[in-house]
Amino acid sequence: MNHVTTPEHWEKVYQTNPPDKVGWYKPRLETSLRWIRALSLDKDSPIIDVGGGASTLVDDLLADGYRSITVLDLSRTALALAKKRLGERAASVTWLEADITSVDLPACHYDLWHDRAVFHFLTHPRQRKRYVDNLLKALTPSGHLIIATFSPEAPPSCSGLPVERYSADKLQRILGSEFRLKKSVEELHITPGGVEQMYLYCHFQRTA
Ligand SMILES: C[S@@+](CC[C@H](N)C(=O)[O-])C[C@H]1O[C@@H](n2cnc3c(N)ncnc32)[C@H](O)[C@@H]1O
Repeated sequence: MNHVTTPEHWEKVYQTNPPDKVGWYKPRLETSLRWIRALSLDKDSPIIDVGGGASTLVDDLLADGYRSITVLDLSRTALALAKKRLGERAASVTWLEADITSVDLPACHYDLWHDRAVFHFLTHPRQRKRYVDNLLKALTPSGHLIIATFSPEAPPSCSGLPVERYSADKLQRILGSEFRLKKSVEELHITPGGVEQMYLYCHFQRTA
């Protein structure tokens, strides 16, 4: 069976589950938020949350005063959930309903690219290459990448789809020498259904 990440799959997930019952749900993305705060970015620095879904990271970034936030996701329903939750504050966010492996992003634009639990769904080398090509196109020369994937100890699938699991070395090899690993940590996530999933969080900075 050829498992391809399709908008239909994600639409169905978001249309048939409350946002706090999906496997990856966390009320707040504390690690991401802590690492983003530690970067001390300018409040006007462009930030993109790739595959942000209905996550609350955007709420916390707005509350911290960031003024140039983009949330990109395949799923219209997920973006609608986030917009509804934010109410009037949603107007100050750029929402992109798009596939990160094919979207045309502005060149050399984002100072921070955040991805929690999206890259690991790209199980084909071609998809990963397109993702990394977009990352290289859209990130500024000294921009930051905060990425969370399933770690080698995690289950082989997530949300009914197979995933690729990563160590920091494996991610580094895929990203290439333009990125330097600044830090990494493994963090256990327990799904609302009680399943243990070990995540790997990595912070890379672009060096070229
Ligand atoms: C496991 S969820 C994680 C959501 C969010 N990052 C979080 O941590 O709560 C994966 C998200 O990535 C989105 N997604 C999957 N493949 C994608 C792709 N190729 N391009 C853009 N979004 C994608 C899904 O719609 C879903 O919202």
